[in-house]
Amino acid sequence: MALYSEKVMDHFMNPRNVGVIEDADGIGEVGNAKCGDIMKMYLKIDNDIITDVKFETFGCASAIASSSMATELIKGKPVKDAMELTNKAVAEALDGLPDYKMHCSVLAEEAIQSALEDYRSKKEKA
Ligand code: FES
Repeated sequence: MALYSEKVMDHFMNPRNVGVIEDADGIGEVGNAKCGDIMKMYLKIDNDIITDVKFETFGCASAIASSSMATELIKGKPVKDAMELTNKAVAEALDGLPDYKMHCSVLAEEAIQSALEDYRSKKEKA
């Protein structure tokens, strides 16, 4: 069996939603100290709906595929749904990741949670 599923390869070779949102409502940046990979997520939120999401990932193929898939899973969805997104759901949507690459999908979950946290704290201050 191939190490990576076709979906992982597709999202790695043609990542969706790569880039920056200049006037983002929430930004989250996380990293994994062991592998050194870094992921940054930008959210645009209107009326509690995620209207746009972009990411920048400095990392491995699984981290890039996980970020890409995670953005696709939350785009157009309510904030509440994004809060419930787990790394398992990201990995399942990619038709699985090798066990030792599961932490790459954790990074995607954490980046989204961190961006949502930033959105919440900005909203409270406003
Ligand atoms: Fe660390 Fe993929 S090897 S995020």
